[in-house]
Amino acid sequence: MTGEVVFGHARLADFALEPATLHLNHGSFGATPLIVRAAQDRWRARMEANTTRFFSVEIGPALRAAAERAATSLGGAGTDWVFVDNATTAVNAVLAGLDFAPGEEIVTTAHVYPAVRRILRRAAQRAGARVVEVALPCPIPDEETIVAAVAAALGPRTRLAVLDHVTSETATVFPIARLAAIFRAAGVPVLVDGAHAPGMLALDAPAIGADWYTGNAHKWLFAPKGCALLWTAPARQAATRPLVVSHGYDDGYTAAFDWTGTRDPSAWLALPAALDYVAGLGAAAMRQWNQALARAAGAMLADRLGTAIACPPAMLGAMASVRLPVAVEASEANAWALRGWLRASHGIEAPAVAVGGALWIRISAQVYTERSDFDRLADALATLA
Ligand SMILES: Cc1ncc(COP(=O)(O)O)c(C=O)c1O
Repeated sequence: MTGEVVFGHARLADFALEPATLHLNHGSFGATPLIVRAAQDRWRARMEANTTRFFSVEIGPALRAAAERAATSLGGAGTDWVFVDNATTAVNAVLAGLDFAPGEEIVTTAHVYPAVRRILRRAAQRAGARVVEVALPCPIPDEETIVAAVAAALGPRTRLAVLDHVTSETATVFPIARLAAIFRAAGVPVLVDGAHAPGMLALDAPAIGADWYTGNAHKWLFAPKGCALLWTAPARQAATRPLVVSHGYDDGYTAAFDWTGTRDPSAWLALPAALDYVAGLGAAAMRQWNQALARAAGAMLADRLGTAIACPPAMLGAMASVRLPVAVEASEANAWALRGWLRASHGIEAPAVAVGGALWIRISAQVYTERSDFDRLADALATLA
């Protein structure tokens, strides 16, 4: 791309999103630009042209080159980054490498991603340990509230902290370095679930001061589905392994993750193309567009609905969750019914979620969205009351 990049509907031409739908849910599963899919197709063609050469000679250096490139965007050294299919896989892998004793505690917050909550509970249950979920108000008034509540949960039995960088349902950017510091000072390892952060936030993962950091590249970095990364602090690498044991398992951290059996690695290898797409847009300009739009659209929605955003504007990344003024039970079933109604009656994809006794609508700003899209959503939601 040359010249000044135009954000908004002009960028829809970069994607294959169905035109009949208003896509306001980039956050859940992302969307892959055509140019990145073409790069993935080229990797697949190369693989199929000579599978023996590809899997015995080419894949290792290609994966490491892609990891080096990831490091230029996410921080740290390429040798500290490994590819995984998604953040869920990374959290499972880290938890599987830790031994908990009866009575020990895993600290997280009530805003933890529901699938991660299940992973933590299972790990705790197997060992007779327990998960401590820090209660947080919703809306969250400020960063201090989170820091104070999380700090109060640290105790002599705390064995691990699992903290979101950007919460899923409440779309809040946590003060992650401050939270990590609380546990680091006590010698408690920290796993950061940064599923939404790559591409949404300016990121230097090692600078956060955690022990592990996982992020999805298939959400806000535009990589194909199945492209996510795990950063591990050098001191933890000897004990960090994938869930699948294969040839490289005993050969070190990167070797163990780089080969977990024969699989299609094209999503991982297409990451540099995704980073090229972002560079073409201008990474900082893209983040600024998304954040400004999420803040403006969130404020407009809260105003039109007469409700509130789940956190202060300064804590928003590229998403915002706004409370819905509906007098129905804040249940999962009603949240799903609302999603279905928006889709069927208005052709809008935007997730409704049930949090803290209320229903919320989460919006995603992206390079292909603009203010009028969110006005359309507000018009649709106005008919709800
Ligand atoms: C905070 C958070 N963690 C983990 C995940 C899981 O991501 P994936 O399904 O790619 O594993 C998500 C997905 O939206 C998320 O928002």
